[in-house]
Amino acid sequence: MKLNPEKAIDFYWFSGTGNTLYIAEALAGFLAENGFEVNLKPIETSDPAKVDLSRTTGLGIPVAEQGTYPFIWDFIKYLPSPDIHGINDADVFMVDTLMLYSGGIKGPVKKILKKKGFHLLGAKEIVMPNNLMKLKNQPDKDQLKMARGKEVVEKFGMDLISGESVWKDIPLYSDMMGRISKMKSTWNLFRNKFPLKVDHDKCIRCRLCERICPVQSWSYDTGKNEMKWLKADCIYCLRCFSYCPTEAISYGKKKYLRHKPLTADAFLAVLRLSPGLSPR
Ligand SMILES: Cc1cc2nc3c(=O)[nH]c(=O)nc-3n(C[C@H](O)[C@H](O)[C@H](O)COP(=O)(O)O)c2cc1C
Repeated sequence: MKLNPEKAIDFYWFSGTGNTLYIAEALAGFLAENGFEVNLKPIETSDPAKVDLSRTTGLGIPVAEQGTYPFIWDFIKYLPSPDIHGINDADVFMVDTLMLYSGGIKGPVKKILKKKGFHLLGAKEIVMPNNLMKLKNQPDKDQLKMARGKEVVEKFGMDLISGESVWKDIPLYSDMMGRISKMKSTWNLFRNKFPLKVDHDKCIRCRLCERICPVQSWSYDTGKNEMKWLKADCIYCLRCFSYCPTEAISYGKKKYLRHKPLTADAFLAVLRLSPGLSPR
């Protein structure tokens, strides 16, 4: 099965710190150069129920805890079912980015989509720089990984076009690994062990964290004139930590480094949020 050149591609992506966005843009660019119409759509502001099954669906997601973030599992779970809608040519492909290894993403996502009746065109995992608990700054190594990631995803694009792409999985093992990121306790462990903290002296109250958070886990406390972290909602995508303009946000006891492959304004632009900061 290969990408249907007659169909436009709606490519739904999420990126905590920018790696997956970089890869999604690289693949979208490659496919556009090869004559495909590709629309990049942020998962965080898209309604899965409104996904158009007459177009090819693409998914671009980061690996977290062997699987992915809970709201992304929900997005996939609530995609419409081609079987129920009587559509027999709804195509889907996926790319995921990770620092090293994931046992629980390709298999479980494949299972959900197959059960709904999608045609699975292929899935590819792309190794990218680590963004979690980073202790060493290695810009040259990161640049190399990103360049290699771009090559790998373009090769995947070629395979999608020629029909040589595959969606591999190891059924029982990947089901088991996929459970980790679906468990509330996994995320509660992060929230309790590595709470996000704000240095109120460094914070300029620009509220960028609130605007770029995909799950509304920041709010501004008018009475205290302070940003407040809403622990129960946080998914640890690290976007706020990485892009805070004054590095006022931290987590855990160590001085972890920020992974920031693009600027905050560039991120706001792709998310279609107005640019610039408005300190209070
Ligand atoms: C909370 C969290 C959990 C992660 N878990 C994994 C993991 O299980 N395996 C892995 O290889 N990388 C893991 N990573 C690294 C990211 O998958 C990787 O850096 C990814 O490219 C980040 O993409 P993004 O910048 O689009 O968010 C994790 C990162 C975070 C923040």
